[in-house]
Amino acid sequence: MPQLLISTAKAMTNLTEPHPMKLSLSNMLGISYPVLVAPMFLVSNTSMVIEALKSGGTAAIPALNYRTESALREAVAQIRSAANAPFGFNLIVNKSNPKWKQQLSVLTDLKVDFIITSLGSPEEVIKRCKPLSIKVFCDVVNLAYAKKVEALGADALIAVGSEAGGHCGPVSNRILVPELVEHCRIPVIAAGGISRPEHVREMLDLGAAGVSVGTIFIASVESPVSDDYKQALIKYKSKDIVLSTRLSGSHLTVINTPYVQQIGTKGSFLEHWMKRHKRFRNFLRMIIFARGMKKMEKAAFKATYQTVWVAGPAIDDIHSVRPLRAIMQELTAGF
Ligand SMILES: Cc1cc2nc3c(=O)[nH]c(=O)nc-3n(C[C@H](O)[C@H](O)[C@H](O)COP(=O)(O)O)c2cc1C
Repeated sequence: MPQLLISTAKAMTNLTEPHPMKLSLSNMLGISYPVLVAPMFLVSNTSMVIEALKSGGTAAIPALNYRTESALREAVAQIRSAANAPFGFNLIVNKSNPKWKQQLSVLTDLKVDFIITSLGSPEEVIKRCKPLSIKVFCDVVNLAYAKKVEALGADALIAVGSEAGGHCGPVSNRILVPELVEHCRIPVIAAGGISRPEHVREMLDLGAAGVSVGTIFIASVESPVSDDYKQALIKYKSKDIVLSTRLSGSHLTVINTPYVQQIGTKGSFLEHWMKRHKRFRNFLRMIIFARGMKKMEKAAFKATYQTVWVAGPAIDDIHSVRPLRAIMQELTAGF
């Protein structure tokens, strides 16, 4: 090949550099299994993270699970004193989390290993984390957004499929994962509906660098939620999972308990009206979010008739409450 063509090809695509897609989550973080115990609002805690790290995976906690900066700092210290492996935090980076910039400052100050961004632009997080070598993984639900965050410098994508618990995406990760793998250069971590080793294998075969798993770990011994919540995960099945906009303003997967049936899954007429009017939209989002969070908090930890329990269709594979380590071992069997 003429010299000119060789150098042009190299300059255009950096062909000589190893393709980052080849990096699995295990290689990226230096862990045994490419499994991330997903960040879950109200659920994730330091005990779950410590057990996940000791079991050969990794884990993340939503920064929102801590009310104060000192509590967040204390959580990082506690994990670091108990386990020696990388872990991260999740930042909701839109107006529903007015504290995200302070939380980011704490996390960059403590140089956590990675940050997962969700529900907003990761631009500022990436800018502040890059110089510190803190990795930034971004939740995405479609290719257009994935391309945007890749261009901003994200280290990996978390493909949130329609099977996911929490704020699920519109497309199954059986379609989303291969699409992102084909069109993006950075690693893709699959999230949603992963509850058995064959699901992990399927996602890796589709090109995923690893998996992010939430729902099945809510029923772990280490999870701090009430026994009523854990028993509901055993009792209800995927046919009982519905999407509600009442709690956060966006589609959220909840168990269709009698209380959820009673209050309905859609916002009121006034909420719909305000959503259509730009001036009120952000204000409304904050109100719905704050009100919904209070309801979820009460339901997660106390005996109450207001049973709003967040979970995804993966509850089909929850049959008992077990130590996190046992759930992780089962998920990674054969790896
Ligand atoms: C109870 C619950 C709370 C969640 N809270 C958050 C959150 O605060 N931030 C976030 O980015 N994702 C959140 N998620 C989504 C998870 O991080 C992850 O994407 C999802 O659980 C994967 O799907 P799975 O539940 O089928 O494993 C939550 C999921 C659940 C089930």
